[in-house]
Amino acid sequence: MALLALGACTGPAEPPPTSTSTEPVASEPRPSASPTVSLRTVAPKDLLIGSSVVGGGHLSGTDHPQPLESDAAYRQLLATQFATLTPENALKWASVEPARDTYDFAAGDAAVAFAEQHGEQVRGHNLMWHQSNPAWLTEGGFTPDQLRQILHDHISTVVGHYRGRIAAWDVANEIFDDYGRLQAGDPFTDALGVGIVADAFRWAHEADPAAVLYLNDYNVESSAAKRQAYLDLARQLLAQGVPLGGMGIQGHLSLQYPPFPPDFRSTLQAFADLGLDVAITELDVRMALTGGEATGDQLATQADWYRQAVAGCLAVARCVSVTMWGLPDTYSWVPATFTGQGAATPFIDDSTAKPAFDALVAALQAGRT
Ligand code: XIL
Repeated sequence: MALLALGACTGPAEPPPTSTSTEPVASEPRPSASPTVSLRTVAPKDLLIGSSVVGGGHLSGTDHPQPLESDAAYRQLLATQFATLTPENALKWASVEPARDTYDFAAGDAAVAFAEQHGEQVRGHNLMWHQSNPAWLTEGGFTPDQLRQILHDHISTVVGHYRGRIAAWDVANEIFDDYGRLQAGDPFTDALGVGIVADAFRWAHEADPAAVLYLNDYNVESSAAKRQAYLDLARQLLAQGVPLGGMGIQGHLSLQYPPFPPDFRSTLQAFADLGLDVAITELDVRMALTGGEATGDQLATQADWYRQAVAGCLAVARCVSVTMWGLPDTYSWVPATFTGQGAATPFIDDSTAKPAFDALVAALQAGRT
């Protein structure tokens, strides 16, 4: 995608299996065996550590496995490591309203029920975006007034369906580009301008007054223009009394663009200073793979970037959650999206943690600073 052009379930954790790893390679970080600790247990109580639930609904296909249905070890991983889950695709427009006024909540309901069963919160993702929209919406030839009605009905129905069960919603996803301009291709902002965003938040709030409502985007930490556009919009919305509650920093990072974004923590703080919650919503750290495998150096750098991302959140009192995207590596969206890149998550597979996992544990154990 163009997006980053610059850029029944299980009970308690099984006992850790005996390590199957062979002799460590001197000074090279190596995958650990099954994690013996849980991220959600070591995290401070006021920081929820999370994962997306991969796959989902009408976006299923070869690039979209459905492991929540088919993979017991994946369910175990989600059930034991995390305190918040985000359906990765199941609540996107094409999944949830594949035909006008025809809703399919099956995949979303399964993810939400799974989270509830394991005492985990849910982040809802998302209500308006320039991608994953069905053809009936993008090619329907609707007037601006009709689009307004369509968005109202969608938000009221979807947020209403999960009223009281979804703690936070990404209401407006990726509405600005890296130059701080409105992102082209969003059916609603294209037709109605940025003003529709305020209405989207009001409608979501009417449908579930308890949900914390977010803006959400990538590269906010690395593009000053994009960051400024969001800070300006957030100030305006708050001044108008619009129920904006949080800023989501996706955190799709790439070792190809070093160093770790120097403005990461200050970006979180800038939104917190407006009185918003902030969340890292889609953290992953991808890399170019030579011969299909990550090197020890790459894994060590990746671990350090995960550490820095979590440390950034811990340093900002209003930073409430860190959600990782598409784990484990075997299910990640990265290889299908960024040619030649991968190994973006802290797990190789459902039961094999990487150095990044150990770095996350250490960062979380260090607590708030
Ligand atoms: C991605 C999913 O991971 C893929 O499975 C899907 O094919 C496309 O969308 N920003 C977002 C997420 O807000 O919804 C995107 O998720 C990744 C980038």
